[in-house]
Amino acid sequence: MLALLDPSVGATVLDFGTGTGAYAIAIARVRPDLHLIALDEQPEMLELLRANLATERVPNVEPASSTDISALRSSVPRIMAINVFHELGDAVLHALLELLASNGRAVFVDWSAEVERPVGPPRDHVYTLTEARSHLEKKGFEIIAERRFPYHYALVAKRAHL
Ligand SMILES: C[S@@+](CC[C@H](N)C(=O)[O-])C[C@H]1O[C@@H](n2cnc3c(N)ncnc32)[C@H](O)[C@@H]1O
Repeated sequence: MLALLDPSVGATVLDFGTGTGAYAIAIARVRPDLHLIALDEQPEMLELLRANLATERVPNVEPASSTDISALRSSVPRIMAINVFHELGDAVLHALLELLASNGRAVFVDWSAEVERPVGPPRDHVYTLTEARSHLEKKGFEIIAERRFPYHYALVAKRAHL
Protein backbone atom coordinates (compact mmCIF):
# COMPACT_ATOMS: atom_id res chain seq x y z
CA MET A 1 0.00 0.00 0.00
CA LEU A 2 2.80 2.40 0.91
CA ALA A 3 4.54 1.74 -2.39
CA LEU A 4 1.35 2.67 -4.26
CA LEU A 5 0.70 5.72 -2.09
CA ASP A 6 4.31 6.92 -2.23
CA PRO A 7 3.72 9.74 0.30
CA SER A 8 6.42 12.35 0.78
CA VAL A 9 7.96 12.82 4.22
CA GLY A 10 5.47 14.39 6.61
CA ALA A 11 2.53 14.08 4.21
CA THR A 12 -1.12 13.77 5.20
CA VAL A 13 -2.84 10.54 4.16
CA LEU A 14 -6.62 10.31 4.33
CA ASP A 15 -7.85 6.75 4.98
CA PHE A 16 -11.38 7.02 3.61
CA GLY A 17 -13.69 4.37 5.07
CA THR A 18 -11.16 3.41 7.69
CA GLY A 19 -13.44 1.04 9.63
CA THR A 20 -11.60 0.14 12.82
CA GLY A 21 -8.46 1.78 11.42
CA ALA A 22 -6.32 -1.35 11.03
CA TYR A 23 -4.60 -0.13 7.86
CA ALA A 24 -4.23 3.47 9.03
CA ILE A 25 -2.61 2.24 12.26
CA ALA A 26 -0.30 -0.17 10.41
CA ILE A 27 0.89 2.60 8.06
CA ALA A 28 1.24 5.09 10.92
CA ARG A 29 3.51 2.66 12.73
CA VAL A 30 5.78 2.10 9.73
CA ARG A 31 5.82 5.81 8.82
CA PRO A 32 5.65 7.88 12.03
CA ASP A 33 6.35 11.01 9.96
CA LEU A 34 2.96 10.76 8.23
CA HIS A 35 -0.30 12.28 9.47
CA LEU A 36 -3.07 9.73 9.00
CA ILE A 37 -6.63 11.04 8.98
CA ALA A 38 -8.79 7.98 9.60
CA LEU A 39 -12.30 8.83 8.39
CA ASP A 40 -15.51 6.84 8.65
CA GLU A 41 -19.19 7.69 8.39
CA GLN A 42 -20.18 5.24 11.14
CA PRO A 43 -19.82 6.57 14.70
CA GLU A 44 -19.57 2.95 15.91
CA MET A 45 -16.47 2.42 13.76
CA LEU A 46 -14.89 5.63 15.05
CA GLU A 47 -15.51 4.46 18.62
CA LEU A 48 -13.72 1.19 17.88
CA LEU A 49 -10.92 3.14 16.20
CA ARG A 50 -10.52 5.39 19.25
CA ALA A 51 -10.40 2.32 21.50
CA ASN A 52 -7.70 0.81 19.27
CA LEU A 53 -5.73 4.06 19.33
CA ALA A 54 -5.90 4.16 23.13
CA THR A 55 -4.09 0.81 23.33
CA GLU A 56 -1.92 1.05 20.20
CA ARG A 57 -0.47 4.48 21.01
CA VAL A 58 0.03 5.82 17.53
CA PRO A 59 -0.12 9.60 17.91
CA ASN A 60 -0.08 10.26 14.17
CA VAL A 61 -3.58 8.83 13.55
CA GLU A 62 -6.44 11.32 13.79
CA PRO A 63 -10.01 9.96 13.76
CA ALA A 64 -12.42 11.96 11.59
CA SER A 65 -16.11 11.81 10.79
CA SER A 66 -17.79 12.59 7.47
CA THR A 67 -18.71 16.07 8.73
CA ASP A 68 -15.00 16.95 8.97
CA ILE A 69 -14.52 16.45 5.25
CA SER A 70 -15.33 19.95 3.98
CA ALA A 71 -12.33 21.47 5.79
CA LEU A 72 -10.02 19.32 3.64
CA ARG A 73 -11.09 20.57 0.20
CA SER A 74 -8.28 20.53 -2.41
CA SER A 75 -5.68 19.96 0.28
CA VAL A 76 -5.11 16.22 0.63
CA PRO A 77 -1.95 14.89 -1.03
CA ARG A 78 -2.78 11.21 -0.56
CA ILE A 79 -6.06 9.32 -0.17
CA MET A 80 -6.40 5.59 0.36
CA ALA A 81 -9.70 3.74 0.17
CA ILE A 82 -9.48 0.05 1.04
CA ASN A 83 -12.33 -2.43 0.53
CA VAL A 84 -14.85 0.37 0.16
CA PHE A 85 -14.85 1.55 -3.47
CA HIS A 86 -17.78 -0.71 -4.43
CA GLU A 87 -19.89 1.05 -1.74
CA LEU A 88 -19.24 4.60 -2.96
CA GLY A 89 -21.81 6.50 -5.01
CA ASP A 90 -21.23 9.32 -7.48
CA ALA A 91 -21.52 12.12 -4.90
CA VAL A 92 -18.88 10.56 -2.66
CA LEU A 93 -16.48 10.00 -5.56
CA HIS A 94 -16.93 13.62 -6.58
CA ALA A 95 -16.22 14.70 -3.00
CA LEU A 96 -13.04 12.59 -2.98
CA LEU A 97 -11.91 14.16 -6.24
CA GLU A 98 -12.47 17.61 -4.72
CA LEU A 99 -10.43 16.71 -1.65
CA LEU A 100 -7.32 15.86 -3.66
CA ALA A 101 -4.56 18.43 -3.83
CA SER A 102 -3.56 19.41 -7.38
CA ASN A 103 -0.65 16.96 -7.45
CA GLY A 104 -2.40 14.46 -5.17
CA ARG A 105 -3.18 10.82 -5.75
CA ALA A 106 -5.84 8.44 -4.53
CA VAL A 107 -5.28 4.70 -4.21
CA PHE A 108 -8.35 2.51 -4.44
CA VAL A 109 -7.86 -1.10 -3.35
CA ASP A 110 -10.93 -3.28 -3.48
CA TRP A 111 -12.16 -6.83 -3.77
CA SER A 112 -12.10 -8.04 -7.37
CA ALA A 113 -15.08 -9.43 -9.28
CA GLU A 114 -12.64 -11.31 -11.51
CA VAL A 115 -11.86 -14.16 -9.12
CA GLU A 116 -13.70 -16.70 -6.99
CA ARG A 117 -12.84 -15.86 -3.38
CA PRO A 118 -13.52 -17.61 -0.07
CA VAL A 119 -13.69 -14.17 1.59
CA GLY A 120 -15.09 -10.72 0.84
CA PRO A 121 -18.34 -9.58 -0.76
CA PRO A 122 -20.05 -11.61 -3.52
CA ARG A 123 -18.58 -11.07 -6.98
CA ASP A 124 -21.72 -9.36 -8.26
CA HIS A 125 -21.40 -6.69 -5.52
CA VAL A 126 -17.94 -5.53 -6.64
CA TYR A 127 -16.13 -4.40 -9.80
CA THR A 128 -13.59 -5.95 -12.09
CA LEU A 129 -10.45 -3.85 -12.43
CA THR A 130 -11.62 -2.74 -15.88
CA GLU A 131 -15.05 -1.71 -14.58
CA ALA A 132 -13.53 0.16 -11.64
CA ARG A 133 -11.11 1.92 -13.92
CA SER A 134 -13.85 3.00 -16.32
CA HIS A 135 -16.05 4.15 -13.43
CA LEU A 136 -13.28 6.31 -11.96
CA GLU A 137 -12.43 7.80 -15.36
CA LYS A 138 -16.08 8.79 -15.86
CA LYS A 139 -15.98 10.55 -12.49
CA GLY A 140 -12.99 12.75 -13.40
CA PHE A 141 -10.02 10.65 -12.29
CA GLU A 142 -7.07 9.71 -14.47
CA ILE A 143 -5.59 6.29 -13.71
CA ILE A 144 -1.81 6.38 -13.43
CA ALA A 145 -1.15 2.80 -12.24
CA GLU A 146 -2.97 -0.46 -11.70
CA ARG A 147 -2.15 -3.72 -9.98
CA ARG A 148 -3.85 -7.08 -9.61
CA PHE A 149 -3.55 -9.08 -6.40
CA PRO A 150 -4.97 -12.58 -5.71
CA TYR A 151 -8.32 -11.25 -4.42
CA HIS A 152 -8.01 -7.49 -4.97
CA TYR A 153 -7.16 -4.87 -7.56
CA ALA A 154 -5.51 -1.53 -6.92
CA LEU A 155 -5.94 1.65 -8.96
CA VAL A 156 -3.82 4.73 -8.44
CA ALA A 157 -5.60 7.86 -9.63
CA LYS A 158 -5.12 11.60 -9.88
CA ARG A 159 -7.39 14.44 -10.97
CA ALA A 160 -7.87 14.31 -14.75
CA HIS A 161 -8.42 18.07 -15.10
CA LEU A 162 -7.08 20.80 -12.88
C1 LIG B 1 -15.74 -2.84 4.34
S1 LIG B 1 -15.30 -1.61 5.49
C2 LIG B 1 -13.55 -1.45 5.19
C3 LIG B 1 -12.81 -0.89 6.35
C4 LIG B 1 -11.29 -0.78 6.15
N1 LIG B 1 -10.94 0.11 5.06
C5 LIG B 1 -10.70 -2.14 5.92
O1 LIG B 1 -10.39 -2.49 4.79
O2 LIG B 1 -10.56 -2.87 6.92
C6 LIG B 1 -15.93 -0.15 4.73
C7 LIG B 1 -15.96 1.05 5.66
O3 LIG B 1 -16.20 2.21 4.89
C8 LIG B 1 -17.11 3.02 5.57
N2 LIG B 1 -17.79 3.86 4.58
C9 LIG B 1 -18.60 3.46 3.57
N3 LIG B 1 -19.04 4.50 2.87
C10 LIG B 1 -18.49 5.60 3.45
C11 LIG B 1 -18.60 7.00 3.19
N4 LIG B 1 -19.34 7.47 2.19
N5 LIG B 1 -17.93 7.86 3.99
C12 LIG B 1 -17.18 7.40 5.01
N6 LIG B 1 -17.05 6.08 5.32
C13 LIG B 1 -17.71 5.20 4.54
C14 LIG B 1 -18.03 2.06 6.31
O4 LIG B 1 -18.65 2.69 7.40
C15 LIG B 1 -17.05 0.96 6.71
O5 LIG B 1 -16.52 1.18 7.98
